[in-house]
Amino acid sequence: MIVVCPNCQSRYDVNDRDSGTNGNFIARCGKCQQTFTAYRPVRVEELAFLDIELAKKVWENNNIIAISNQKGGVAKTSTCLNLGLALTLLGKRVLMVDFDVQANLTQLLGYKEKYSFFDVINDENNNFEKLIIETKYKNLWLFPSTKNMVLLNKKYFGSSNFDFLLKDRIAKVRERYDYILIDTPPSLELCTLNALVSAKLVIIPSQCDYFSTYGINKILKLIELIKKKSNPNIDFRILVTMVNEQSPAESMICSKLKTLYSKVVFDTHIELDQRLSEAQIMNMPVLIYNQKSIAGQQYLRLAEELIGQYN
Ligand SMILES: Nc1ncnc2c1ncn2[C@@H]1O[C@H](COP(=O)(O)OP(=O)(O)OP(=O)(O)O)[C@@H](O)[C@H]1O
Ligand SMILES: [Mg+2]
Repeated sequence: MIVVCPNCQSRYDVNDRDSGTNGNFIARCGKCQQTFTAYRPVRVEELAFLDIELAKKVWENNNIIAISNQKGGVAKTSTCLNLGLALTLLGKRVLMVDFDVQANLTQLLGYKEKYSFFDVINDENNNFEKLIIETKYKNLWLFPSTKNMVLLNKKYFGSSNFDFLLKDRIAKVRERYDYILIDTPPSLELCTLNALVSAKLVIIPSQCDYFSTYGINKILKLIELIKKKSNPNIDFRILVTMVNEQSPAESMICSKLKTLYSKVVFDTHIELDQRLSEAQIMNMPVLIYNQKSIAGQQYLRLAEELIGQYN
């Protein structure tokens, strides 16, 4: 954990295990010699975020899907964009919410520094609804992000009902769309927590590598906790992504994942496809860049599978 001296702002990297029983301890700054109490950061797993009244507000026909895995680079953003576009091609109205400080989804759609959810929370003149952008693709809308999303975590983590910030805002627009897809950051913090508290379904993209099950197990633990505390109807599905069909090791891990998590893995998996990377360079969903691309067709199949299970 990082400890910062309140007097001279010197930063120290302290091992969690070196802190006291409740995690807080008295420290002396090596630079300015100031003595201060150091508080370790709150861990999401330890938060009691049960609010009975809010938990009772379970929506019927919840159409919100969070795309989440704290492991980085597993195709969360690519899945959000390409699944979103595929759903529109099947006649659905889709809102994508960029809930990541990296704002990759926003950039992929060609938008630069506009505003983010932080601007909704921090300025009463902004409301969620007003800031939704109609993209150039038919039936596809975006709520964008910028790097100021980092302030959301900093300013609101731990404040009352901070895990319901998104759910409360999205409530007013929810019924206008068939699906709302939320792209989340590669960490389990405020943004991810808000997305999971709002969602009916969590899609967990996972690559076929040796460590992928660790990432899956970590988010499953959080989903289990949220299910007990504030979102009893939350469900999840694993999506195997970026599969290199030429690699015997990956094919083995892919079939192992499908066996291990049998009923909760989508039948459709997404292959590694150069066309998808090319499409991103051109700021396009892969199905627009090349309709016949393998990944594009697989995202279409995924959209059909999703509609079949969560209509
Ligand atoms: N099917 C695919 N074929 C080829 N490349 C892919 C595919 N899916 C994703 N990628 C590439 O993998 C990289 C990571 O993808 P992406 O940004 O979607 O992951 P992420 O999980 O959102 O990452 P982060 O955790 O940083 O938010 C990108 O460069 C993207 O172009
Ligand atoms: Mg991403």
